[in-house]
Amino acid sequence: MDQKYKNIGDVITICNQKGGVGKTTLCFNLARAYSLQGKSVLVVDLDEQANITQSLLASDTTIESSVADFLISAPIHAIETSIQATIFEDVYLLPSGKHMMSQVLAAMSSDGAVGSEFYLKKALEKLSEHIDIVLIDCGPNINRITMNAFTASSKIAIITEAKMFSSIGITKILGAIDVVRQYFNSDVAIAGIVVNKFKSNVVSANEWIEYMKELTIDNDLSVIEPFIPDREPINKTVTQQKGLDELPSFGVKKLLSIYDEIAKQIVKEKKA
Ligand SMILES: Nc1ncnc2c1ncn2[C@@H]1O[C@H](COP(=O)(O)OP(=O)(O)OP(=O)(O)O)[C@@H](O)[C@H]1O
Ligand SMILES: [Mg+2]
Repeated sequence: MDQKYKNIGDVITICNQKGGVGKTTLCFNLARAYSLQGKSVLVVDLDEQANITQSLLASDTTIESSVADFLISAPIHAIETSIQATIFEDVYLLPSGKHMMSQVLAAMSSDGAVGSEFYLKKALEKLSEHIDIVLIDCGPNINRITMNAFTASSKIAIITEAKMFSSIGITKILGAIDVVRQYFNSDVAIAGIVVNKFKSNVVSANEWIEYMKELTIDNDLSVIEPFIPDREPINKTVTQQKGLDELPSFGVKKLLSIYDEIAKQIVKEKKA
């Protein structure tokens, strides 16, 4: 595969336009998983809710410049000046600009903003330090900002809960990825579907499994295994700003191994 960036290994977008399915929690735990594997990680927060920014930054950190400063045609700073150290060693953050993101979106979508789908990619191309993995946390939308994430990515991971309501919207994401492949980034791969908050003992799980089988066969998609269960320690990671490895709860080792395996599955090259 062509090396798209001089200084970056893989750029991975985590997305689903449905809110609350676990995008940010996955991003947070994957960032830790990759760093425990010895990789350097840059998390890009493209969500104006700024949840991952809050989870990854120490509370006394001030944000002077955000990703919003790079989602324009001619950024004035070097990208390095906006990248922050985080609570995790070897994990860095390009934070969200909260309310500024809606202004950015309006500017990007205006008639004059030719090529605005490429703003994030152009900014990442200028990164002078080497980063193994860039993880992009998206908000619950498919808009010009999401298109920037897809255009900048080598891989997209779609996360869903094991419920019909959260999986039905996946076809809309696939449509957006098709557009990106046609016009902006023909190389982007779908790493697969990550299943979150899985409860095997629920009757509706069977109906959902059937739906997912059809969806994946029809669209040549893979479901990434293992599934992520619904567990309190996972919820605690983002709220208590700790890696699973730093939480002294029962069963945490198993959860750690799940994220470790998903992290490996996502970066694995697909057979042609
Ligand atoms: N596997 C899990 N087990 C337990 N709690 C989880 C799990 N995954 C996510 N959560 C919790 O579910 C809630 C929603 O997760 P999260 O914020 O990651 O979703 P999101 O898709 O990023 O939401 P949004 O669309 O608003 O950005 C959070 O409180 C999170 O801690
Ligand atoms: Mg989120």
